[in-house]
Amino acid sequence: MLDDPASASRPSASRRRFLAAAAGAGALAASGRGANAADGNPKNLPPNVPEWTRVLGDGVAVRPYGQPSKFEKHVVRRDVAWLTASPESSVSFTPLHELDGIITPSGLCFERHHAGIAEIDPADYGLMLHGLVDKPLMLTLDDLKRFPRVNRIHFLECAANSGMEWRGAQLNGCQYTHGMVHCVEYTGVPLRLLLQEAGLKTNAKWLLAEGADAAAMNRSIPLEKALDDCLVAYRMNGEMLRPEQGYPARLVVPGWEGNIWVKWLRRLKVGDQPWYTREETSKYTDLLASGRARKFTFEMDAKSVITSPSPQTPLRGKGFTVISGLAWSGRGKIKRVDVSLDGGRNWRAAKIDGLVLDKACVRFYAEHDWNGEELLLQSRAVDDTGYVQPTKAALREVRGINSIYHNNGIQTWRLLPSGEVENVEVS
Ligand code: MTE
Ligand code: CO
Repeated sequence: MLDDPASASRPSASRRRFLAAAAGAGALAASGRGANAADGNPKNLPPNVPEWTRVLGDGVAVRPYGQPSKFEKHVVRRDVAWLTASPESSVSFTPLHELDGIITPSGLCFERHHAGIAEIDPADYGLMLHGLVDKPLMLTLDDLKRFPRVNRIHFLECAANSGMEWRGAQLNGCQYTHGMVHCVEYTGVPLRLLLQEAGLKTNAKWLLAEGADAAAMNRSIPLEKALDDCLVAYRMNGEMLRPEQGYPARLVVPGWEGNIWVKWLRRLKVGDQPWYTREETSKYTDLLASGRARKFTFEMDAKSVITSPSPQTPLRGKGFTVISGLAWSGRGKIKRVDVSLDGGRNWRAAKIDGLVLDKACVRFYAEHDWNGEELLLQSRAVDDTGYVQPTKAALREVRGINSIYHNNGIQTWRLLPSGEVENVEVS
């Protein structure tokens, strides 16, 4: 007999649960990670019959919309309180260190709002298309869904991702240094089809996209891009967009800075020149060392980061380990990712596993038998245009240190003999 369920000496199920939780919490405090088998109750390990095998579980539909296991409560978006003055105009970061593969679960996609989340009743939703067109349109959500549709997997990176790191290593965790990126499958209408339906005048050159949030955030987009690969998306990862991501419709602008992916999209106006809105003059321009500002940095340059090990996911012991990370490029496909263990002196090609798509994240792995010595971990993305992700020093030579946006420099993590990981820079 494996384990006697009737045994009186055994603590009650609820007490054992508490003990397991306490052990888990201890491990969490000590290492920053959740409980593993070694921290738990050996009575639950094979060949014993664990407590969860002795009871019937919840039936179907007890949880009409599924949630992650309660043991994954730490896998959440987080913000940095001192970064912004108010939560309505702020950012929460994707927990990249807890994820694998390339798709970001919808509930973990970072959020960036300028005036909070607009709550739009889809019955009252309308998208207006006007300006230099033959036939202005007012489209309902049902109208949008009636157009031919496509599915596309793309990354979205905020131009301000890694923006706190221009003057040196700042934030201890890839969630904070690199977590303003997500990669999602979108379903929507090619913007080209909507523009064709309206009919473009011959002098049409630019498009203004405006959101329905309290910021009425708006940006100018060259018509060439709008006619190329942009979508008006209403679904992410199969289901309707989340309110945080622009429900019921947002612009998808593959490879371009996140700011231009207007959420809660309400208006598209065709014009013959850019509008020079707040978000493309006062914000989202790049102040150079010369004191001049660069405008319209639309494309996101190739970038990568090791997500594990990283400050929030330290190593728990010597031996075989899989170094894992993400890479992406706004110019096309990732061709190669290199990994260095010695701060960029020596490089080896990482293994890319899974889909390699245009303007989407790729997942890379580098296997290493760690003997407990200090390492300086780096990754370097190369895209199919031949562009190589620069070092932070090389980037600063061109850009100075006054920028906020478009920091795609190589990240360094120092792995200490204790297994802990720190955000550092190497010169
Ligand atoms: N669209 C509207 N209407 N309002 C906003 O505040 N934020 C922009 C963009 N679109 C924003 C918006 C910025 S700066 C970014 S980085 C992305 O949305 C963030 O998209 P996400 O919240 O889905 O991650
Ligand atoms: Co942004």
